[in-house]
This record gives sequence, structure tokens and C-alpha cells, in this order.
Amino acid sequence: MEELLQQIESYKTEISAFEASTADAVENFRIKWLGTKGLVKAIMGEMKNVPNERKKEFGQILNEFKLFVETKFETLKAEGETQNAESNSTIDWSLPGDPVALGTRHPLSIVRNQIVSIFKRLGFAVAEGPEIEDDWHNFGAMNLPEDHPARDMQDTFYINQDPAWLLRTHTSSVQARVMETQKPPIRVICPGRVYRNETISARAHCFFHQVEGLYIDENVSFADLKQTLYFFVQEMFGKDTKVRFRPSYFPFTEPSAEMDISCLICGGDGCNVCKHTGWVEILGSGMVHPKVLENFGIDPNKYTGFAFGMGVERICQLKYRVNDLRLYSQNDVRFLKQFTGAL
Ligand code: PHE
Repeated sequence: MEELLQQIESYKTEISAFEASTADAVENFRIKWLGTKGLVKAIMGEMKNVPNERKKEFGQILNEFKLFVETKFETLKAEGETQNAESNSTIDWSLPGDPVALGTRHPLSIVRNQIVSIFKRLGFAVAEGPEIEDDWHNFGAMNLPEDHPARDMQDTFYINQDPAWLLRTHTSSVQARVMETQKPPIRVICPGRVYRNETISARAHCFFHQVEGLYIDENVSFADLKQTLYFFVQEMFGKDTKVRFRPSYFPFTEPSAEMDISCLICGGDGCNVCKHTGWVEILGSGMVHPKVLENFGIDPNKYTGFAFGMGVERICQLKYRVNDLRLYSQNDVRFLKQFTGAL
């Protein structure tokens, strides 16, 4: 019986040392050990020569041996499969990777974000309103009653006649939305898209973007308006930029003014963008009309305020020298990808 034990030990040593480099070698291993005429079967046959009192002991030893061989076979098979997967693979790990295209922010978003962040530093909060408005928020509340000739200033797209639903013609409609729900002190900035029925060309479009500002509190003066906008211009365009205010008219502000900045393209010498004047208009502004305050139950004897509305496209044109408004909405990647990396 000791011979049998020795035989098993030497088989085990042989099996442990065995390595297969091909699928054939693995198959030969299986035939040699686990096949119907294999060595495992043969050695199991030795059980009949084992004396009865040791049958239990040897039964265990032989079963363990069989399991040992089977485990080895499974290991060889698994190794072969991974090797196969690697050698059959068509992946060339040395090839350079595909470049990942980097998205860009739209120039109008970049400029809008800059405008908003400057006013946020002054304590303005962002407010938004719907692009589809009713007549009251876009016109009535802003002191443009029906038949008011100033409505002609803004060619309106109507969605519905009676009651009038329209695409807002300015972000001043958001002023109305804010005053409806908030009481002074109010300090908001309202970025958004506006619509006007204009023939599309390099210089006009049927939609564009504005940023509205509204500040209402006790003792707000025209000096506050000027200083706030002057600070904005210096932050946005640099310390050397000059500003000037020209008297103007808006039904919702009194007095009203338009603000020009010295032309960034030609430095004030005169060019196509500033129409050879050296100045470019960037916004409309004024002291909130008492009627507008009254429309929202704000006492004009106690509170005063200023408001302004600036065109984002115009500021973008000055910053990035985009001279055709149509480029902003054509989604041409050759245009858009020039703004890579800007925030
Ligand atoms: N809403 C005006 C426009 O669209 C701009 C403006 C806003 C003027 C606020 C004065 C005060 O032209």
C-alpha cells in the first residue's frame, strides 16, 4: 500500500510542474489523466487491492487526488483562454488615442455671464421671466397704455390678439414680474432673450439678448445710476473706457438716458462700428417712472429707483469684433469653436 501512496505523490509532483503552452497540450493532459483510459481511472482501480480496513482511508486519498487533477485541468484551460483572448485581439495599444473634442461656450453666454457676475458683486440678484408675455407685463405696466405711440418703437410678434399674448420685446417685462412679487429694496439683474419683428440682416435680427437692471430703494438718485453703470463699464471693458450719457425717452423712465462708451474697435478715432463718431451706444436707462412704481403699489414719494437695459450682442461685438448678428444663431462650429477656453 505504501507503493500506492508513493505513486500518488510522484503523480502529484509531475502534475504540479506541468505547464501547457498550447490548447493541444491541455487536451493531451486531459486524455492522459482524466480520459476513459487515463491514469486517474487506473489508479482508482487500485481500490480493489486495498484491504478492507484501509478502504475508507484510501477512498479519501484517491478522491482528493482526483479532485487535484481536475482542478489542475480547469486551471490550464482558463490560462489557455486568457492567452487566446490576448493573442487574437486586434487592439493595438500603441496607437495614439482619438482626440476628445472640447465643447465651447457660446460667445453670448460668455458675455452674459461676465455682465451678471459684475452686477452680482454689487449685490444684484438674478431674476428671470417668461419669453411669452401678456400685454400688461410687456407694455401696460411699463407705462405704455394701449394706443401709446411708443409701442411702435418695438415691432411686436403677437401670438394671440385678444387677450394679447406676445413675445416679449424687451426684458423690462421682468421688471414688472419682479415688482409684482417683491417689495423694496429691490436690486435685480434680468438676462434674457427678446423678440422684435425685424428683417434679418447683419445689423438686425428678429431675436436678440438683453440684460435688464432694476434698483429701487429710498434715496436712489441719478448719481447712483451713473456711478453703477460707470463701474460696470470699467470692469467690463477696462479702466481707459470713457462713457457718456445722452438724454433720451422711454415711457417707463423719467428722466431717461442712453449710454455710449468710447469705441473699443478704433479707440475713438472713428470706424465702421461707431459710424465714425468714436462712440457706441450700449444701453438705455433712466429713473423708474412714478407711474410704474404706482402700478405695483410702491409709493413714489418714499421710493425711487433706476433701471437700465443693455444689448448683449452689441457688447459681444465690441469684445469679440463680431460684425454680423446672424453669426450668433447660425451654429457654425467654425465660428463657435473660436471661443474655446473662455468661461
Ligand atoms: N427696454 C428698453 C429697450 O428695450 C431699454 C431700457 C430698459 C430703457 C430700462 C430704460 C430702462 O430699449
